[in-house]
Amino acid sequence: MSDSSEKTASEKPQAGTGKAGKASLEAMASRARLETRNLTVKYGSTVGVEDINIPMCDNSVTALIGPSGCGKTTFLRALNRMHDLTRGASIEGKVLLDGKNIYDDDVNPVIIRRKIGMVFQKPTPFPTMSIFDNVVAGLKLVGIRNKKVLQETCEKALRQAALFDEVKDRLKTAAVSL
Ligand SMILES: Nc1ncnc2c1ncn2[C@@H]1O[C@H](COP(=O)(O)OP(=O)(O)OP(=O)(O)O)[C@@H](O)[C@H]1O
Ligand SMILES: [Mg+2]
Repeated sequence: MSDSSEKTASEKPQAGTGKAGKASLEAMASRARLETRNLTVKYGSTVGVEDINIPMCDNSVTALIGPSGCGKTTFLRALNRMHDLTRGASIEGKVLLDGKNIYDDDVNPVIIRRKIGMVFQKPTPFPTMSIFDNVVAGLKLVGIRNKKVLQETCEKALRQAALFDEVKDRLKTAAVSL
């Protein structure tokens, strides 16, 4: 583990440094859908990321690039309140989705995670559930039980992820085999 005091400026996630960078950052901020303002995430006294201001626009790709431990994952997890589930983690600053801070008291994190998803580096299925049940878990959670709807949605989702042909004959087997 490293403390923020050990990080050099070039190791911290940042966007738009320099004059031209700052101008383009300001232009991006004016049309950002998702934006962090002075975002700091701490694990106890360990600082994961500090004072991050990054605008992210519609229909564009924003890449986070940096050395191991600089805070990429910490930053990403802050964007849909995944740190709510991390013991000892605390958040300062704001994450604005269409201008609304997702950390406001009146915001339901479950709804936020429906709007802002995260694709993990490694597959992280529910280990005791089948491939099929993993794919339709979200639908079942909101009360959808219609078999036809579940089957069609499962197939559509797997086709979109280019996985259907690979797993179509073992949808009922445990998802840990993925
Ligand atoms: N759950 C945690 N508890 C305590 N410290 C943590 C935790 N997760 C991350 N950290 C610390 O926060 C800092 C940022 O880590 P993070 O995992 O976000 O970096 P990263 O850029 O994603 O690294 P990598 O490229 O290796 O995935 C590091 O100092 C790390 O040790
Ligand atoms: Mg990481």
